[in-house]
Amino acid sequence: MYSKSEIAQAELLGSGANRYCVISPRDNSICLKIDLPFERKKTKNWRQSIQRYLSRNFNYFNENFVEWRAAKKLHKLVTHEIALEYIAPIYSLDESELGWILSTELVRNEDGTVAKSLHHHICENSTLSKQQLYKEIDKFCKFLLEYRIPLFDLNSGNMVIQQSSKGMRLYCVDIKSIARGKEIIPISYWSNRLMKKKILRRADRLKQVIKKQG
Ligand SMILES: Nc1ncnc2c1ncn2[C@@H]1O[C@H](COP(=O)(O)OP(=O)(O)O)[C@@H](O)[C@H]1O
Ligand SMILES: [Mg+2]
Repeated sequence: MYSKSEIAQAELLGSGANRYCVISPRDNSICLKIDLPFERKKTKNWRQSIQRYLSRNFNYFNENFVEWRAAKKLHKLVTHEIALEYIAPIYSLDESELGWILSTELVRNEDGTVAKSLHHHICENSTLSKQQLYKEIDKFCKFLLEYRIPLFDLNSGNMVIQQSSKGMRLYCVDIKSIARGKEIIPISYWSNRLMKKKILRRADRLKQVIKKQG
């Protein structure tokens, strides 16, 4: 079990609306995802306020728990080896003084540096062209559609780009949406046709974000 002081000294990788990610102080190939303190969680609307309340009070709604459930659901759809092609593996969910901690593979480039998020490549001066990024997004969507994986949260903070002498590769590092969506009635999870349409729509939206940059 990780202690508060161990986590406080760990190197920060990034943070999202609900969690922050650090390099494990015990193994630098592992990324630890930890709940942001309640007051630092971002809420843009009433939906998110309810989600924040539920996540604090019921394990079932906690973000790390949701992603852990998503990993289990993913492995009902594809083998570990197939998932590895595009999704950073999730290893364990453990209790700690800071709440639930999710351990996942830390995606690194061939030179050992940490793979940057797609968001970083879009907003900073990236050496990668827009066409290269579109191609990676298309490959990822093809993978989702081929195995009917209901992963809809295609936002640029949830993906990282790994670079090596062989080229680049997109990895998804946040698969919560496989287990939990934003729809009140989750029809996109029940109908293959709607799932496909929604994934393509989300991919298109992501490409539009890239197109508008620079
Ligand atoms: N496995 C990983 N490898 C490399 N970077 C990661 C990994 N997981 C998360 N990150 C970094 O942490 C950021 C936030 O992670 P994320 O899981 O999306 O948090 P949230 O649930 O709050 O959205 C990502 O944008 C990425 O930069
Ligand atoms: Mg995220």
